[in-house]
Amino acid sequence: MKDPVIIFEKVSKSYPLYHNLMGIKRFLFSFTKSLRAFKNSRFEALRDISFEVYRGETFGIIGRNGAGKSTILGLIAGVLKPTQGKVLVRGRIASLLELGGGFHWELTGRENIMLNGILLGLTREEVRKKMDAIIEFSELGEFIDQPIRVYSSGMLARLGFSVVAHLDPEILLVDEILTVGDINFQRKCLEKMLNFKKNGTTIVFVSHSMEDIKRLCDRVMWIENHNIKMIGEPEEVVSNYIKFVNS
Ligand SMILES: Nc1ncnc2c1ncn2[C@@H]1O[C@H](COP(=O)(O)OP(=O)(O)OP(=O)(O)O)[C@@H](O)[C@H]1O
Ligand SMILES: [Mg+2]
Repeated sequence: MKDPVIIFEKVSKSYPLYHNLMGIKRFLFSFTKSLRAFKNSRFEALRDISFEVYRGETFGIIGRNGAGKSTILGLIAGVLKPTQGKVLVRGRIASLLELGGGFHWELTGRENIMLNGILLGLTREEVRKKMDAIIEFSELGEFIDQPIRVYSSGMLARLGFSVVAHLDPEILLVDEILTVGDINFQRKCLEKMLNFKKNGTTIVFVSHSMEDIKRLCDRVMWIENHNIKMIGEPEEVVSNYIKFVNS
């Protein structure tokens, strides 16, 4: 039984194009005209896309830089609103959208774990109980009590993933997080994601690593030119994508 937990119905997402505001002089001297130009000039990142993600599947999204993959994750997470169309999501979401998204730079790793745990829906007591396990998973050692502004990007990824790894989401969104971790941590993340998968968590996974995509995903969607180019078996979609990019 296919039970859709994420549904995109004819979704479009456009962003304002900021360069129209850059001409400050023109903006000041011809305010209404500039405003109109600003309103009308939008960049359409996604155009009229429809797809479903089923409960328990691992759904990969691939495509070139700027294709709209992160935009799709943002729409699922609810941090972005569609310009047109409908996005329906059923289930508790945990997301690793961008590095340091929910982090506070002056707080230590330990304090950020507390902050993020609470932001992601746990109680203070629940985070406290999981704290040691999260810190151990992160392997950050003494850095855990340093403010995270001194962390490298890989260390930030470790912190972020470690918090998410100890939550119990129904839907997990992962955007390209594995690439900044070292080989050991990448392996650990992959194992953890396979574990989530085994336990029935629905996963939406964006990556440029075709190996990881093939290893993890049940289905893959390829985004090209603001639209869905193909949805299907990982092997087939990936090989078509590689052929397309290399031609
Ligand atoms: N906040 C924003 N304001 C304006 N344009 C944006 C914004 N966020 C994304 N875009 C544009 O939307 C398009 C899609 O961006 P998106 O980040 O979804 O791509 P992506 O597929 O995740 O790319 P990458 O592989 O590089 O991560 C890009 O052309 C980008 O410039
Ligand atoms: Mg992206």
